[in-house]
Amino acid sequence: MSAAACTTAPAPPPFKPIADTKVLMQSVVDPNADVVWDSVKTIITAAGTEEIRPRTEEEWTIVRNSAITLAESGNLMMMVPRAKDGGEWMARAKEFIDASESAIRAAEAKSADRLFDSGGAIYEACSRCHQQYVDAIVKANQ
Ligand code: HEC
Repeated sequence: MSAAACTTAPAPPPFKPIADTKVLMQSVVDPNADVVWDSVKTIITAAGTEEIRPRTEEEWTIVRNSAITLAESGNLMMMVPRAKDGGEWMARAKEFIDASESAIRAAEAKSADRLFDSGGAIYEACSRCHQQYVDAIVKANQ
């Protein structure tokens, strides 16, 4: 192997970004977060209390798949042209990936309690990034 072959970095993957951050949020992040959040809840009516949670293999798989989509969408947030900076943005996206990964593990373990907690962690990760970056956009436009 020549020295040049050893030092030449491989060409970057020919990514073809389709969705900007806003469209990614609308089409991928928001709908899949809803699947996770709606999967475990308690509905209280005059008729009584209903505990919603995944019960069948198929229902657990649907939640797991949405959690995987969320986790990987965190990687999409880190990529050009969506990443807003190389520091805080990456940290917020990483927190989001970690929270989504915990939802994947909860679904694999078929634990409704852990899935509920992971849903809360996902919500916090959404909020932390929005507080830092979306509120800034809104303020800048005022
Ligand atoms: C790493 C940062 C980050 C994370 C994590 C994140 N978002 Fe966002 N989100 C943004 C930014 C930035 C925008 C503003 C995009 C724009 O308008 O250009 C946005 C916008 C949105 C919008 C508004 C789109 C519109 O119609 O204007 C929704 C809805 C949304 N996010 C949902 C979510 C949900 C739900 C989660 C968590 C499950 C989440 N986001 C996690 C950064 C993030």
